[in-house]
Amino acid sequence: MSDLKGKTAIVTGASKGLGAAVARRFAEGGAQVTIAARSKEQLEQLAQEYPDQMLAVTCDVTQGDRVEAMVDQTVKHFGKLDILVNNAGVGRFGQIHELSEADWDLMMDVNLKGAFLTSKAAIPHLKDTKGHIVNVSSVAGTVTFPGGGGYCASKFGLMALSDVLTQELKKDEVKVNTICPGSIQTEFFRNPKSYALTAEQVTEAIWTMVTAPAGVIYNQVIMRPQVPPDMQK
Ligand SMILES: NC(=O)c1ccc[n+]([C@@H]2O[C@H](COP(=O)([O-])OP(=O)(O)OC[C@H]3O[C@@H](n4cnc5c(N)ncnc54)[C@H](OP(=O)(O)O)[C@@H]3O)[C@@H](O)[C@H]2O)c1
Repeated sequence: MSDLKGKTAIVTGASKGLGAAVARRFAEGGAQVTIAARSKEQLEQLAQEYPDQMLAVTCDVTQGDRVEAMVDQTVKHFGKLDILVNNAGVGRFGQIHELSEADWDLMMDVNLKGAFLTSKAAIPHLKDTKGHIVNVSSVAGTVTFPGGGGYCASKFGLMALSDVLTQELKKDEVKVNTICPGSIQTEFFRNPKSYALTAEQVTEAIWTMVTAPAGVIYNQVIMRPQVPPDMQK
């Protein structure tokens, strides 16, 4: 349980859903965690659960200056950075001819540019600690579907960013981990499927990535819920 004792992490999109579950698990495992998102009140409530270990920082990941300030604040507060989890994400679904330009831009900004900005700000510190970047992509970053044009494009872009980061950071021994979950029971979808993965199940996979034995890198993991036979298409 205490495998992350002495480690410091940033989890973006930690005000709810998967990000909040990852932040809790990391804190329970002994880590100090900066929880970042836009919803101040939700972040502060979560930080109260682990007052000695969590730092709530309001941060929109699409704003480069805010991201830099959040990373600086983390390193000043905790002394270093070992793990960055790029989890903040949004989904807007509709066929291309129906999808608005604003929704397209939002997904590219949060899901792709956000991961670029946080990685860029964190990399110098992660090189110092030979740390981890965990990018939360999606099964939608590996296969496409009608109505997922903008979301899939943003997550396929994140896969490309992850691959480049893997290659660029190899010599510095910074490990890059990408997780591609299927449906998760969070507020991301209004009516999540009854068989969807829980945030805790996905969190366990992320935990395995960041606590991998020396010499082992879980570079990409695709994780799907088991669909009951009577609900399969
Ligand atoms: N749920 C699924 O079925 C599913 C499946 C595969 C992959 N994923 C991926 O898993 C990740 C987490 O999703 P989730 O299911 O936990 O969704 P969620 O419950 O809707 O949570 C999304 C999180 O992202 C944050 N966020 C959104 N825009 C942001 C911004 N501009 N700056 C900073 N934070 C921002 C939200 O916080 P604020 O609103 O407070 O900013 C929230 O904490 C996403 O990357 C998503 O694409 C989800």
